[in-house]
Amino acid sequence: MMLREPARVVEVNPLGNMTAPLTGEELMANNPYRPWPARITSITDLTPTEKLFEFRLIDERIREAFRHEPGQFVELSLFGVGEAPISISSSPSKRGFIELCVRRAGRFTEALHAMQCGDIVGIRGPFGRGFPFERMKHHDILLVAGGLGIAPLRSLINNIHDERSEFGKVTIIYGSRSPSEVMFRDQFEMWRHRKDFDLYLTVDHPDETWDGEVGLVTKPFEHLELDARHTYGAVCGPPVMYRFVIDEMRKKGIEYDHIYCSFERHMKCGMGKCGHCQIGHQYVCIDGPVFNYWEAKNIQGSM
Ligand SMILES: Cc1cc2nc3c(=O)[nH]c(=O)nc-3n(C[C@H](O)[C@H](O)[C@H](O)COP(=O)(O)OP(=O)(O)OC[C@H]3O[C@@H](n4cnc5c(N)ncnc54)[C@H](O)[C@@H]3O)c2cc1C
Ligand code: FES
Repeated sequence: MMLREPARVVEVNPLGNMTAPLTGEELMANNPYRPWPARITSITDLTPTEKLFEFRLIDERIREAFRHEPGQFVELSLFGVGEAPISISSSPSKRGFIELCVRRAGRFTEALHAMQCGDIVGIRGPFGRGFPFERMKHHDILLVAGGLGIAPLRSLINNIHDERSEFGKVTIIYGSRSPSEVMFRDQFEMWRHRKDFDLYLTVDHPDETWDGEVGLVTKPFEHLELDARHTYGAVCGPPVMYRFVIDEMRKKGIEYDHIYCSFERHMKCGMGKCGHCQIGHQYVCIDGPVFNYWEAKNIQGSM
């Protein structure tokens, strides 16, 4: 019996020209719901519950076309399991791969944590509005992260580091519950050593290995000196943290519209179609997830 050849998939150029190959941008714009296959190329254990995954999009055209801003997210698919929004943790200046820092929380993230290097996932995006990186240039920057909030802020921190001469003083405050939950410690210590950033690591519950600050993420504000008029603030962490950190930023004199916060809401489509993330008249997936303080104040229940 003769086996029939599988049908060839023809990518139709939107201009109707079947012979001209589509660019990566055109392929992604053709169907934003389509997850693009990506291979896991590295997995790093960060804490007992968080891992850093590096992914490479398999189609070279998509890999070349993929560009993001710090603070944006992707929709990550595990075939047969589901899809979830995850912030991009790598810098836009590093092309060809994407890093995602994922906490094991439930069914989807457990399945991801069980995967190995070489396994294939799906990625679509990037989605949302990130931090105003260009506007932040030529200013001092104060970045405050709590727990997993370091995941999206790390993209911004790495991007600032790659263009360090474009920024003034950069201060990072990063709070965790315990020393075993501090992520990217080696990288931060190296930057502190090289005086790239002023770094304050705090933990709520120290152990005998801890020689840093002890207390809430707001503690280092006690001895922080800022040129508030020329400072941008960026905050990301558990919801309870925002009000207290923003109060401290305001007490230091940072303007409302210079304070940016990244929010997480339950999402589905990631592109303003399904309404899952809607709060009032805002869609967190397209109007955010990064909002300045004025905008955030008007989002019901966010502050
Ligand atoms: C814009 C955005 C960026 C995100 N970035 C990251 C990231 O960088 N790293 C990461 O680990 N997670 C991130 N998340 C959260 C991630 O999408 C959820 O943790 C994931 O969907 C949980 O799926 P699950 O099946 O493993 O857990 P589930 O069983 O669905 O949930 C486990 C627990 O997590 C809570 N949860 C689920 N979804 C969310 C959500 N969207 N926001 C807050 N809590 C949630 C649930 O209420 C529950 O308590 C992000 C979410 C959004 C909206
Ligand atoms: S997630 Fe669908 S509208 Fe925002």
